[in-house]
Formats: sequence, C-alpha cells, structure tokens
Amino acid sequence: MEPHPEIPPPILEQIAKLERKYEVMGQDLSSYLDGLLYANYLTYWDYIHLDTLLSLQNPKTDFPDEKIFIAYHQITELYLNLALWELQQLAEDPHPTEAVFLMRLKRCIRYFRHLVGSFGIMAEGMEQAQFLKFRMSLLPASGFQSVQFRQVEIAATELKNLVDPEFRAQIDTHTTLEEMYDQLYWKRGATELATGKKTLTLKQFEVKYRATLVQMAQHRQLTNPWRLYRQHFPHSAAVTDALRTFDAIVNVDWGLAHYAAALRYLHREPAVIEATGGTNWQKYLPPKFQKIQFYPELWTEEEKAEWGKTWVVEQLRKL
Ligand code: HEM
Repeated sequence: MEPHPEIPPPILEQIAKLERKYEVMGQDLSSYLDGLLYANYLTYWDYIHLDTLLSLQNPKTDFPDEKIFIAYHQITELYLNLALWELQQLAEDPHPTEAVFLMRLKRCIRYFRHLVGSFGIMAEGMEQAQFLKFRMSLLPASGFQSVQFRQVEIAATELKNLVDPEFRAQIDTHTTLEEMYDQLYWKRGATELATGKKTLTLKQFEVKYRATLVQMAQHRQLTNPWRLYRQHFPHSAAVTDALRTFDAIVNVDWGLAHYAAALRYLHREPAVIEATGGTNWQKYLPPKFQKIQFYPELWTEEEKAEWGKTWVVEQLRKL
C-alpha cells in the first residue's frame, strides 16, 4: 500500500493485512469496514451476559437462603465445566509435552481447591432451619444428579477404577464397559435406607445420562490422564505428584468438604432417618467408605487403607 500523508504507516500495514485476510475468503474488506463503523462498542455486561447470568437463580420457595444454595451449585458446575475443558484438551492433544500436561492438571487442581476452600458457603453459610424447609420443595432433585461431576470422574481415569470395590475382583478382560458402568460405585448411593431400593433421584439420572456416560467412557479409555502418563511420562516425579494431588483433592478433600455440609444439615440418628424415608448417605458419602482412587497404583497400601479416615473422625467429634 502506498504511503499516505495522513495515515500512519502501521495502520496502512494493518489495512493491507486485513485486505489479504478477506481476499483469501473471497470477502470484501470494505463491507466489513462498514460493519465496524456501525457496530456498537462491546460492554462488559454484554460480553459476560450479566443479565442472563443473574436471571438464572430461581428459588422454588420464599426462604432467602435458597438463593445461596442455587448460586453455589451453579458456581460448582462452572468450575466442573472448566476442569472438563482441560481434561478434554489433554485427551485431544496427540503429542502432549510434560509442561502442557502439568499445566492442564494443575488448572484442574486449582479449580477443585477453590471448590474445597469455598464449601463453607454451604456448610456454614445458610440457616439450618431455612435449609431443612426449602430442601423439601426440591425433592427428588439432588446434587447427586450432577452429570458434570460424573464426567470429571470418567475423564480422569479408567472406568474400572470407579467400579464399586466389591465388584472389582470380578473384572476381567471380557468385562465390557457397559457391565462396568452398571457396577459403578455411585450406584450404591441415593438408595432408600429402609428398603435398599434405588430412589427416583437415581432412576431418573440413569434414564437421562446412561448412554452419554458410557459413550464418554469409551472415548476416554485410552486418553485419560492415567493412560497419557503411562504412555508419555512414566518416570516423571512432577507428573506423579500432580496426579496424586488431583486424585486426593477430588476424592478426599472435596468428598469430605461435601460430607461435612451434609452432616451439618442432615445429621440424625439412623433410626430417625429411616423413619423419615431418608437415603443411605451416611453410609455412602464418606470417602473412607467409597474408597475411590483415580490412580490406585500411585498410592501405597497404607495410604489406601487410611483413605479419608482421620479427617472424618475429627469432624464427627466436633458435632
Ligand atoms: C448443604 C449442602 C448439601 C447437602 C446437605 C448435600 C447432601 C447430599 C446428600 C445427602 C447426598 C447423597 C445422595 C442422596 O442420598 O441423595 C449428596 C450427593 C451429592 N451431592 Fe450434595 N449436598 C450439598 C451440596 C452439594 C453441592 C454444592 C454440590 C455441587 C454440585 C453437590 C453435589 C453432590 C454430588 C456430586 C453428589 C454425589 C456424590 C458421590 O457420589 O460421591 N452437593 N449430597
């Protein structure tokens, strides 16, 4: 482009680049410049969709603390989504370097650290009397039905590590992913304490998400962080450390922070819970009962035996 007395050379250079960009696509630069001329300036509130975001908290009752409950679940879902985004990018990277692998895993750890650190918003941040009332209007919905939580688990490891420990010994080379899926540890949760039957909460979740989750497990069997680690960096101490941290923060720290909230609001003698038609959550939620490790090969037998134990005992003493 010819120099022009009034237009600074860097601008002329940018126009030339734009001309090339649009020419390649058979587009007319001048029309796009018109578009630029008429377009409004972007604002923060439009970019973040603030009005939409703030229209998504719709309590079912008039108890003011229900808003906190809804917003915190939404915040959790956003963090879960960010963790899934990192795990997906790892799965799709044909040649991951150690630096990129660590970066993505550390991002996931950071998201979960934030969730663990903020769980007090649930455990201590609502009035118990309000909670106990508004939660009755939300039945049979439960955070148990968070599909993104299940997706993080499936994206993080091989499906066999999520199978109920009681059934793991039966897995052999002929066991299909569908068969494993039907024995996942969380199928034991959300069951009626009195009868042992699956709750509607669990049945509805299975109807809606079984196919999606089995398909995801199929896609991630060879591209989950464990497989990538074994294939690309089996001797890296930094990667081993990050995998252990990620495992513990999801399966112990988050599990315990969440269990503390459940204890704070729902703690009753088992007989009372049974009488009121409650679920088996006290037997199901504690990490020491679930015994789920994404990367069991990275923990010693002693560490596995002590999984989640001491903390639970300490919390129970405080009650
Ligand atoms: C006061 C707050 C909370 C209480 C009292 C509570 C209570 C419970 C209970 C009792 C269960 C067991 C399932 C059942 O028996 O129905 C459960 C499961 C679950 N909740 Fe919550 N919850 C709370 C907050 C949250 C939040 C903020 C999330 C975030 C999404 C969440 C996600 C989950 C998940 C993923 C499960 C399944 C856990 C597993 O399978 O190990 N919960 N919750």
